Amino acid sequence: MLVKGDLVHCPKLGEVVVLRNHLLRVDSRGYIDHLAHSAHPESLSILMHEDPTIIPLGSFLMPTFCDLHLHAPQFMYQGTGLHLPLMEWLNEYAFKAEESLDADHQLAESVYKRLAARLIEHGTGAVLLFGTIKTETNLILARVMQQAGIRAFVGKLSMDISSRPTYVESSADASLEAARLFCDQCIDVSSSLSTHERLVEPVITPRFVPTCSNELLAGLGALSAEKDIRIQSHMAESHDQVHHVLSERGADDMDVFAQCNLLTSRTVQAHCTFLTPPSLMRLAETGTAVAHCPLSNAYFSAEPFRLREALDAGVRVGLGTDIAGGYSVDIMNAMRQAVAGSRMREGARISGHYRADSGQEIRVLSVDWKEAFYLATKGGAEALNLAKGSGSFVVGAPFDAQHIQVFDAASGEGTGGIDFFRDPRPGGLTLEILEKWWCVGDLRNRKGTWVQGKSVDSSSFH
Ligand code: GUN
Ligand code: FE
Repeated sequence: MLVKGDLVHCPKLGEVVVLRNHLLRVDSRGYIDHLAHSAHPESLSILMHEDPTIIPLGSFLMPTFCDLHLHAPQFMYQGTGLHLPLMEWLNEYAFKAEESLDADHQLAESVYKRLAARLIEHGTGAVLLFGTIKTETNLILARVMQQAGIRAFVGKLSMDISSRPTYVESSADASLEAARLFCDQCIDVSSSLSTHERLVEPVITPRFVPTCSNELLAGLGALSAEKDIRIQSHMAESHDQVHHVLSERGADDMDVFAQCNLLTSRTVQAHCTFLTPPSLMRLAETGTAVAHCPLSNAYFSAEPFRLREALDAGVRVGLGTDIAGGYSVDIMNAMRQAVAGSRMREGARISGHYRADSGQEIRVLSVDWKEAFYLATKGGAEALNLAKGSGSFVVGAPFDAQHIQVFDAASGEGTGGIDFFRDPRPGGLTLEILEKWWCVGDLRNRKGTWVQGKSVDSSSFH
């Protein structure tokens, strides 16, 4: 694959870079093997032998989005029942829905196929998934994602405590055995493929502290270390959950997870809303990444995550939709809500700024659209420890990309919901135009998606 035109990426937090009129080539295994201005001598020599696909003026390629937190079975009731506090909502909706998919694999397959189609439509190329407790249902999820061409990290839920007697594993030992089996079987889903074609991986997934005994948590920590497998869970999410853990366990989430070796550089913890700056430092020290889910936080958490402080502390952070605690599968919405929430935090401070205790430094609490763009792409890829360079365009990185059109090259008309009142063609793609797309763009702007160099198509999954 050889393409020529404008590319946009965020190599660093807050830095949106437009690579104008570049030539990008993808090798047969889906990795970028050439990237330079199209007038660069190496580009010119490539162009002597091969005609590129032209990305027209008004369009650009950018990395696909990473969604660091999504409950696949909850997609079934996305957008309903958000009136309850978290612990009641889990009992009333989440556990029941998950159990119903464990009991009906045809339904599970159709929910997961539809989810895959929606992810592709919304430009999500990599996703960290929570599934259900039954192994087979999670293998269906892994197979669907592999077939759809989405990079998916699939978590079979581990729960040996539950408010629902029919949705629980029988003991810590049984749960651990099932987690081990799932890891092996999930690896088998793609093991017959070449390494570069393998898109799915298992994730060790203690649901959250309230549903896992210390014995189970410690066993999962050991399993992850033994097999070098990723970990995901929920941490410090809501008032009712935080109080529940303190009263039942006499410790907080952070201490419980730390004691069980579940805070590692392989770990992504969702939410972390109630973590104070010293706790955020502990996340940074252990290498634990955070899935920031701003929409879900607005419903369940009562407080916004300390995003700026986490970034300043060196915590790896990406964005999550938290379907169905968040109702939108679109990471564009997560980007916007991350910025909006951070601005509310800043606005709540007198004059919007404060002097740090330690000196004259003025700290800003808000993040801007460029920072959110990074979190949705490279930040997410780094939080997931994806292959080197992932989430951006560099030689050696897998080509995971989306084609976005902001205006039509022939007419100069804005695409989808984007309106221009001056012809945008003479200036071409500017940061101002990108910001406009970031604010008001939608599905209509997305003209194609690739993962590992392969075009992925939502229509084959409807
Ligand atoms: N904590 C434990 N389980 C869940 C879940 O399914 N959704 C959310 N948002 N939080 C959780
Ligand atoms: Fe969640």
